[in-house]
Formats: sequence, structure tokens, C-alpha cells
Amino acid sequence: MNFKNYSKIIVANWKMNGSFSLINQYKNYLKKNYIKFNKKIAIVICPPFPYLTICKNKFKYKNIFLGAQNLSLSDNFSKTGEISSSIIRDTQCNFVILGHSERRNLFKESDKLISNKVNESLNNKINVIICIGENLSEKRKSNTFKVLKKQIYKSLSNNCSPKNTIIAYEPVWSIGTGKTPTIEEINKIHTYIKKILNIKYHLKNYKFKVLYGGSVNKKNSKDILSLKSVDGVLVGGASLNIIEFAHIINFNKN
Ligand code: 13P
Repeated sequence: MNFKNYSKIIVANWKMNGSFSLINQYKNYLKKNYIKFNKKIAIVICPPFPYLTICKNKFKYKNIFLGAQNLSLSDNFSKTGEISSSIIRDTQCNFVILGHSERRNLFKESDKLISNKVNESLNNKINVIICIGENLSEKRKSNTFKVLKKQIYKSLSNNCSPKNTIIAYEPVWSIGTGKTPTIEEINKIHTYIKKILNIKYHLKNYKFKVLYGGSVNKKNSKDILSLKSVDGVLVGGASLNIIEFAHIINFNKN
């Protein structure tokens, strides 16, 4: 997938949700409404592992891609219950989400581990969506920029490039809370992230795509997605309802 072909990238992170019923709701909705979708918008659906193949078979559309939500390092293949990058690659997934704050916090994933996973995914030709973001206490201490810079330097890997890596700015305090930064704040922070990425990777123009994630819904998506500094959104809760998710995808028609 060439990211440059798309004006925005809209990602559904189902987290530990989803069912055959939800997949069928997506399928039926897409059958009727896909024709009206803007084909310059890439849609990436990230269901739990067991649903990847069925989603692959049911959502056969030019601009709809699949993503996994995690992978395990293949340093040792005797790891009962884990999924490697080569298995994900075999399911024809184009993406994997790495560094999500839920994995950083609940599963104690360090920047170093995330960076190793990024490296391995890219070596297996799986594009990465790397999440970064400050928590509430870091925000209150005005440490947002410092935290983001550290995560960019430590969670990415040397083989990241604008062709295989997307950054998702997800303020932890915004996930699932209904709270979001202001539009001005999102713009300022995205511009900062792009600047730091340019410095790290010695680039001139802003080339890396940066998505916003955290309480994106049908009401706020138009304002967020209208920002030039926002290359797309990473949607949690609102992606569990295809009508609401389609509203976000069609933000410029509503
Ligand atoms: P919500 O959209 O439910 O706030 O979740 C955001 C998120 O964590 C997506 O990865």
C-alpha cells in the first residue's frame, strides 16, 4: 500500500471487541454503501486475531486494509498462545498497531520492546502504526512535548520511513473518556511530532503521516480531520458501530 495515494487514513481499532455479528454488520453496510465512499480515504480495520482472515475474505475493497493489534517477537517460536509477525504476514495483513497505551500500561511494554517489535514487523513487510501520547499527569506537568519526543526517539526503529510507518498521537487521558484536546492543541502537537520525525530521519518536508486518536466520534471527526496536520484518525469505541464509523469516514460529506 502506498500511503501517498490517500488523503486520509482512517483506522478502526476494535481492541478486545468484535463478533461475527459485527463483521456481518460491516459487510452488509459496505455492500450497500461502499459505492458512495471516497476512494482517496484508506480504511484500516484492526479486529482481534481470530477475525483477521474472515475480515480479509469479507471486506474485499480497493481501499480497505487489515491490521493486527499486536505481535510477539519471534526470538523463540515455542511461545504458546503468541502470534508472530510471520503469521500476521501470512494472513495478508498490511498493518500492525504497536505501542498502544493499553499495551504500554496493562502489559508493561517498554519503548525498547516496542522498537524491537517495530523493527521485526518492518523486516516482515508489515507496515506499523505506532502510538505515542502523554498521560494526564504528564499533561498537567506540561511534559507533553518531552514525552512525545522520548517516545519517538525510543519506540521507533532505524528502518522506519514515511513509506512503512504511521504515527498515531493518542493522548492517554483522551482514550475512552469523551475528552479531546482542542483543535488548536491537536494542530500544534501534530506539527511538533512531524518536526521531530523530520529531525530524527533527516527529512525536509513533513512526510510521515500522523493520525489522531482518542474519543473520535461522529461529532468531532469533521473538525479534527479538516486539519491539514492530521492525516487521519485511529478510532476505538466509535468503530464498533458501522454507521457511526461510516459517518467519520465520510466526514467531508456531512
Ligand atoms: P476511543 O476512540 O474509544 O477513545 O479509543 C481510542 C483508541 O485507543 C484507539 O486506538
